[in-house]
Amino acid sequence: MKERGDLIVENQQPNIKTREEACRWAVMRVRALIADEQDWVVNTANAAAAIFESWKEVSWAGFYLIRQGELVLGPFQGKPACRRIQVGKGVCGTAVSERRTQIVPDVHQFPGHIACDGGSNSEIVVPMMREGEVIGVIDLDSYSFNRFDEREGQALEQIARMLAQGCDWNL
Ligand code: SME
Repeated sequence: MKERGDLIVENQQPNIKTREEACRWAVMRVRALIADEQDWVVNTANAAAAIFESWKEVSWAGFYLIRQGELVLGPFQGKPACRRIQVGKGVCGTAVSERRTQIVPDVHQFPGHIACDGGSNSEIVVPMMREGEVIGVIDLDSYSFNRFDEREGQALEQIARMLAQGCDWNL
């Protein structure tokens, strides 16, 4: 991915055939997009767009950031969403309280799932950690059941690490 900041090059989607390729493509794309840029709004906005575009069957991709002790909606792609989520509530709040990735093949079976879009059937939420603290989460929804597994989990965890380390988090 060639010259950093060259969006024409970065937005050219290669011929992606497998889930593994799509995962690698999303990671590469985010890495290139955040190079030489530390603003967290810029970087999370571009990361949400890159992930949403790189993967099939994703209905929503975005960020919730911890502000004054609760998760507050950040940059995203998809339908308008819940504005604030308490730590420990829903899939997002559970990812924060348990400090680990949540892969939910059927959201209707997840106790306390928060439905921002009634069409959503599966979800993945990955915490972003900085200096031992959770600073936010990456959240993806799908209308398909069982859309996400550890392949997407590992890719999103890599993206979460890149963002956590590569941004100024003046939250
Ligand atoms: N389903 C999430 C809420 C956020 S939306 O999916 C965008 C949850 O249960 O935390």
